[in-house]
Amino acid sequence: MTYSETRPWAKAIKEAVLSKRMPPWFADPHYGEFSNDLSLNAHEIRTLTAWVDGGSHEGKASGAPKASVALADGWRIPKPDVVFQLPEEIHVPASGVVNYMFVAVPTGFTEDRWVEMAEVRPTNRSVVHHAIVYVLDDSGFLDVGQYLAGYAPGAAPQQWQPGQARLIKAGSKLIFQLHYTTNGKPAADRTQLGLIFAKQPAKERVVAMAVTNHWFTLPAGAPDVQVDARLTIGEPMSLLGLRPHMHLRGKSFEFRAVFPDGTAQVLLRVPRYDFHWQTYYSLKAPLALPRGTRIECTAHFDNSPNNPNDPDPKVNVAWGEQSWDEMMVGWIDVAVPAKSSRPNAPVGISFPARRDGNTSARSFGPGLTSR
Ligand code: HEM
Repeated sequence: MTYSETRPWAKAIKEAVLSKRMPPWFADPHYGEFSNDLSLNAHEIRTLTAWVDGGSHEGKASGAPKASVALADGWRIPKPDVVFQLPEEIHVPASGVVNYMFVAVPTGFTEDRWVEMAEVRPTNRSVVHHAIVYVLDDSGFLDVGQYLAGYAPGAAPQQWQPGQARLIKAGSKLIFQLHYTTNGKPAADRTQLGLIFAKQPAKERVVAMAVTNHWFTLPAGAPDVQVDARLTIGEPMSLLGLRPHMHLRGKSFEFRAVFPDGTAQVLLRVPRYDFHWQTYYSLKAPLALPRGTRIECTAHFDNSPNNPNDPDPKVNVAWGEQSWDEMMVGWIDVAVPAKSSRPNAPVGISFPARRDGNTSARSFGPGLTSR
């Protein structure tokens, strides 16, 4: 925030921006335009490195710009209209593996509510690997379409464009999915969800979908395993954003759209995926997906000793919840007309389907046990 804080980091800053390790942004710049793009352009990189090479002088303090961010230990969205919290603290032991937990919190909503911002906020970040809040309506069944908001390091709160909002039906329950990791000291957390209601009637309803493949094995030692998934859009909608998700063996991820006329477009290419950054890529302009558009995802995994993040390259790895298991999910946020009566369940057909014939998206529910 200040010159004296920054000066000692000059050489590290130069190294971090030249190697593109910082700011954290992983999209291949040749594909897609994103409203939350953090990357620096060549001119900005030159400015920074020239400052370092020129001796990192302070310049005229009187001409310095005002700080553009306020670092507050509070909500990153404006003050929420309503805050829900885990009914009691969850105690995390000092060591060992903690399975995912699912905690239901009633909304008490007696009418349908539209939400334009949502933030999940742990009270003790040191043990929260991630926390996701789903909305369970009276259909009684949970799938990725009910994803409302999540917390993970590097992830931003959900904030939709004016006129777009998430629908929370009267009587819904919130399902907090919590993944705690132990860190040597006993700890307690009581994660919160803050919501801001839409101030005007929503024109479009935002829904999450997942393009996913659960049926893969990464053989021990294999340096480059390709896994594909695809989903066909069952009704017209517009694409708002993309979030690739793999675990520690994830190497690269690509989203493509194949339109009904056969033309194809790369939506996002992440050539060097990093599990530690669960980045969401928000499209600069929504992309119309006509009915019948196919969203295709291609992931590559490295389960070899050359992957420094690999927890154990000597084992075969399959789908599972813990970070040493793997996942392959291309999350997408889409908007449909607000009046659409569609349920939250996915409207597309995923490939490969689950062995039981349901779409693969469903297995995110609380029935899922750790493997
Ligand atoms: C121009 C912008 C940025 C510059 C120059 C910068 C520079 C740096 C530097 C020099 C380090 C230390 C690396 C080391 O230990 O040697 C670092 C680490 C880090 N930065 Fe940034 N950063 C930028 C933007 C960001 C942003 C936008 C975020 C978060 C969204 C971020 C999050 C982090 C984190 C979490 C670390 C520690 C983790 C790690 O070492 O990988 N940085 N950054």
